[in-house]
Amino acid sequence: MTVITEDPGAANAAFDAAVAADERIEPRDWMPDGYRATLIRQIAQHAHSEIIGMQPEANWITRAPSLRRKAILMAKVQDEAGHGLYLYSAAETLGVGRDELLDKLHAGRQKYSSIFNYPTLTWADVGAIGWLVDGAAIINQVPICRCSYGPYARAMVRICKEESFHQRQGYELLHTLSKGTAEQHAMAQDAVDRWWWPSLMMFGPPDDESAHSAQSMAWKIKRHSNDELRQRFVDICVPQAEILGLTLPDPDLKWNEERGQHDFGAIDWSEFKEVLRGNGPCNEQRISQRRQAHEDGAWVREAAAAYALKHSEES
Ligand SMILES: [Fe+2]
Ligand SMILES: [Fe+2]
Repeated sequence: MTVITEDPGAANAAFDAAVAADERIEPRDWMPDGYRATLIRQIAQHAHSEIIGMQPEANWITRAPSLRRKAILMAKVQDEAGHGLYLYSAAETLGVGRDELLDKLHAGRQKYSSIFNYPTLTWADVGAIGWLVDGAAIINQVPICRCSYGPYARAMVRICKEESFHQRQGYELLHTLSKGTAEQHAMAQDAVDRWWWPSLMMFGPPDDESAHSAQSMAWKIKRHSNDELRQRFVDICVPQAEILGLTLPDPDLKWNEERGQHDFGAIDWSEFKEVLRGNGPCNEQRISQRRQAHEDGAWVREAAAAYALKHSEES
């Protein structure tokens, strides 16, 4: 869709028609300011989550129990850096600079997913993150492949393929531990006990409290509600937990014949809000490590800029 018009009413109508017809909005198309701002906020938060999410798992790279596990984990963490890059690039098409977004992250003015403020206490956490956290990310992100904004939708296609590898490596890791010694099984169970509830919180607040949901659905940035996606995740995880031989830590979790879905217990939203407010177990550490990494990388950015300048002068 390309709109070349001076008439704001006509531009708005063309935008609405394109969204209604499931056409993609592209960077040069006219779009409402609110649509642009919503996308910048969401894509930035998504990009920040990818790169902050590298920290809890990178914590275990040097202590992976075998060369095979280490190679897999390094590949996975590196994928997350790549996801961050695709997403910062998608955000840049909306007219915002990557350095500006990183400054906001470092200053605490933009968020990242609250899940990454929890610590990785044992090796089994790497498995639980892959199975549950990457699993929840897939459920959230597959519908974004059909997002109305072209660059975001296209970035998500490749990201989802890689997330599915992440989910499987976590599942396979947990399966190995669960079927191993009694000690390994207990370690796997403990990790699932700690990651289950925060994973459910990844889908965001309940629908009746979700501030941006209705408008995002109307703009087709978002295709399903938070509660709908959360339910889908629970229904997928229950049979997988059975195969793993692990228990999900929710006594109220049971099949509801009438609904054809699982009922599950109440989520502790006060914990979610506390973590969002910056009071999770690792918030400070995550941001200070990120700032440090950014400072440590200053010479690389300077060298790259100097190199680019030299080449532009030569040509
Ligand atoms: Fe990712
Ligand atoms: Fe991932």
